[in-house]
Amino acid sequence: MATFARGNSTPSGTAVGRRPSIAATGAVVVSRRRIARRVGELAAAIDARFGGQELTLVVVLTGALVLAADLIRRLKTPVHVMTIEASSYPGPATRPIGRVVCSAVPGGLTDRNVLVLDDILDSGATLKAVVARLRRRRPLSLASCVLLRKRRHDGRCVFAADMIGFDVPDRFVVGYGLDYDNRFRNLPDIRVLEISNNKDRP
Ligand code: IMP
Ligand code: MG
Repeated sequence: MATFARGNSTPSGTAVGRRPSIAATGAVVVSRRRIARRVGELAAAIDARFGGQELTLVVVLTGALVLAADLIRRLKTPVHVMTIEASSYPGPATRPIGRVVCSAVPGGLTDRNVLVLDDILDSGATLKAVVARLRRRRPLSLASCVLLRKRRHDGRCVFAADMIGFDVPDRFVVGYGLDYDNRFRNLPDIRVLEISNNKDRP
């Protein structure tokens, strides 16, 4: 079971790995097999929705990177891929800071069919902010797709996505592009984050 020292990517137990460990070894919430199947279904739904018209996919970095790489290879729809960076979880936070920081909106969206792709919908603040910025470019159509929707205990989400891969419990999850403090994006399954050091517990 791999554990990683905080602040570097060296497995604990090595010379530089003496600090408290964080292990992304919690339960699998969505397995790689279910992800692959659902990504195929989402691609088919996108193809059906756009019916062969050209589509501009705006990928919300960094979390949707892995999803985008898999999804675009399953699409029959001709697609342009663009990116926007958005962040509401600075560093090791596991709850949004309430302010979404976005990079510049890509150009060339006017009169295009635009689909925004993100990894997970939690409070909805990120997608709400991104979609508001994209709408100002007057696309022909603007829709959204997320791999995960968190079923929040408080039920509060300010944005409704048009396409959703899976509903997941109100836990912090990592893997398949989703990170904790920029780690664990490379895990092939989506897992609950478990932190073994109390100081870092979400
Ligand atoms: P929202 O703005 O509260 O909807 O949060 C959405 C953004 O926060 C996503 O784009 C993710 O990058 C990040 N996020 C929310 N929940 C999680 C999680 O459980 N794991 C990793 N990232 C998350
Ligand atoms: Mg994100």
